[in-house]
Amino acid sequence: MKRLLIVCLGNICRSPMAEGALRARLEAAGLGSRVQVDSAGLGNWHAGQPPDRRAIKCAAGHGVDISGLRARQITDADYREFDVLLCADADVLYTVRAHAPPEATAHTELLLDWCGLGPNAQIPDPYTLNAAAFEHAWELVDVAAGAIVAAMKQGE
Ligand code: 4NP
Repeated sequence: MKRLLIVCLGNICRSPMAEGALRARLEAAGLGSRVQVDSAGLGNWHAGQPPDRRAIKCAAGHGVDISGLRARQITDADYREFDVLLCADADVLYTVRAHAPPEATAHTELLLDWCGLGPNAQIPDPYTLNAAAFEHAWELVDVAAGAIVAAMKQGE
């Protein structure tokens, strides 16, 4: 069982979209039971809330229902309970690494490191932007999700 935690700032836009895209692709590939996927935010501003309605709408447009997800803040335990912390952008990755507790075992990397889009490829935060920015974020997280599933299949 591989355990992946996707991390962004608020856990209401990018990481729940990535969680939805990855779950959908894992299920479609028959790998749903082999990989544990969750998401979290650096902040607790939206803890307990569903994803931003623009994110829900965007995901639904791609056939993925993320309305049941609820935001939560990353915890120290996440650094041991997950194998990899997949970060939405360089600022998130920096903060995740800076806050790592001494007992951390998880690898930390950018989600888009999986995509072949070049080093340091990041998912721009759509929170203060428009529907097109959510679509762009979806495209990026879905490419990453496809690449992760392909890597898992190779490792079978
Ligand atoms: P996310 O977007 O990190 O993709 O979930 C954001 C959502 C909320 C905030 C910032 C980014 N916020 O500052 O409340």
